Amino acid sequence: MEYQAVSIKDIAETMSSQLYLQEQQYMSPGLQEVAQLSQLAIKEGSGCWLVDADGRRYLDFMAGVAVCSLGHSHQKYVAAIKEQLEKITVGSFTTENRLALMRLIASLTPPGLNKIQLYSGGAEAVEAAIRLAKSYTKKFEILGFWGGFHGKTSGVLGLIGDPFKKHWQVLHPGLHLAPYADCYRCPFKMEYPRCGLFCLEFIRKVIENNTAGGLAAIIVETMQGTAGNVIPPPEFLPGLLEIAHENDALLIADEMITGFGRTGMMFGSNHTGIRPDIMTIGKGMGNGFPISGLVSTEEITKSKPFSKPSASSSSYGGNPLASTAALATIQTILEESLVENSRTVGDYLLNGIRRIQEKYEFIGDVRGCGLLIGVELVKDRKTKEPLDKAVTRQLFLETLKRGMMSMNYKPNFRVNPPLSLSKEEADVGLQILDDVFAFLAKHIPYKR
Ligand SMILES: Cc1ncc(COP(=O)(O)O)c(C=O)c1O
Repeated sequence: MEYQAVSIKDIAETMSSQLYLQEQQYMSPGLQEVAQLSQLAIKEGSGCWLVDADGRRYLDFMAGVAVCSLGHSHQKYVAAIKEQLEKITVGSFTTENRLALMRLIASLTPPGLNKIQLYSGGAEAVEAAIRLAKSYTKKFEILGFWGGFHGKTSGVLGLIGDPFKKHWQVLHPGLHLAPYADCYRCPFKMEYPRCGLFCLEFIRKVIENNTAGGLAAIIVETMQGTAGNVIPPPEFLPGLLEIAHENDALLIADEMITGFGRTGMMFGSNHTGIRPDIMTIGKGMGNGFPISGLVSTEEITKSKPFSKPSASSSSYGGNPLASTAALATIQTILEESLVENSRTVGDYLLNGIRRIQEKYEFIGDVRGCGLLIGVELVKDRKTKEPLDKAVTRQLFLETLKRGMMSMNYKPNFRVNPPLSLSKEEADVGLQILDDVFAFLAKHIPYKR
C-alpha cells in the first residue's frame, strides 16, 4: 500500500476546509482539538479509512478516540441498524435485541458481574456507577487518579487528574486524587519493580490522611487513555482492589476505552484477572452509536436508592436502536476475532514503532497493549521534558498531509486505530510515522 502526500496549502484551499470555516460561524468554541486543528469536513468512512469532502483519504489511527472498533460503515453494523430503524427506536421496554445484548455482555464480563444498566454517554455511566457505589456503601467519597479522565459532567469533572479541571469553579465535594502507576513518569522518581509498588502504599496514606472516612469507591482506568495510553504494572489493579476492600469501598474499573478488545483481551481487567465491583463500559461497544453502561453484581445493584423504580435508568439508555447497534458491534467483534486481531496487529504495530524509536532521540517511550499504544515525544530522553505543543501540532499537520489521522498533536501521542486494522494498514501507518518523524528531525526545531 502506498500513500500520496498533499501540501498543507492545498488542504487550506479545499472544499473540506471551506465547509469547516462556514460551520465555525455557528459552532461554539471548545470543539475537540483534533477537529479544530485538522479543519476537515468528513464525508464518509470505510474500514480504517476516512474520506473528506474532497475525496481525500486518511488512515484512521484515532477511531473517534477509541470508539470505532469495527471500522467505519461496517456492513453488518449498518444492516442491523437499518433494519431496526424501520421497526422501533424508542422506549425502555424489553426488546429481543436488548435481551440478546445483556446476555452477551454478561457472558463476557468477569463471573458475577451480570447486572447491567445502559446509558448514552461515558460520563453518564460513570456518574451512575458513583451513585451505585454510594447507594451500596452509604458513603460518599471517591478516589480517582492523576492523569485520569472519566468525563466532563459536574459530578465527575473533579476526577480529572490534570489541569483541565481548573477554573470550572466549585467541583463536586468528596473527590480525591492519588498518583497513578505511570512508571515512565513516576511521580516518586522510582523504578519498577525495585519501587515495590510504593504508589500503592502512598494511596493507602492518601486515604488515611485526605479523606473524611467516607470512601465509597476507588475509580480507575485499567489503562489510562487520556493520559497517553499509560499501562500500569500488573500488580497495580489487584493492589487497588485490595485497598478498596480494606476500606469497605468498591473498585470501579472504568473500561470505557479498554473494554471490548481494545487492549487485546476482552477487558482491561482481564489482564490481571481481577473482578472489579463495578465496570463502566461504552465507546467501542457501540462502534459510534452513543451507548454506554455499567455492569455489577446482583448484591450491589439491588441497593437503594439505585434500585428504586426509574432510579438507575435514563430516557435513551439501551433504547431499541442503541441496543441493536451495540449487539451488532459486539457480535461482530466476536465473529471476526477482533480481540485477537487487536492483540496480534497491536504487537506488530508496537514493534514497528519501537523500531522507529531507535532512530529518533525525541521518542522517549513506546508502550502498548493490543491496539492501545502510547508514544511519548520528548525534548530529551534523560530529562523526559515533553516536546512543545507547537512542535507536535506541526507534526500532526505533516501526518495529515501524508494521509493519516492520528493523535500526535500532543506530546503524549495516543495510537488507537479500529480493531480491524490489518498488518498492511499498520505498515502504511508505520511508513507515514517514520516519514513525519524524519521530517521533524530535519526541519522542525524541536529543542526550543
Ligand atoms: C475512561 C473514560 N471514561 C469516561 C469517558 C467519558 O466519556 P464521554 O465522553 O462519552 O462522556 C471517557 C472519554 O474519553 C474516558 O476515556
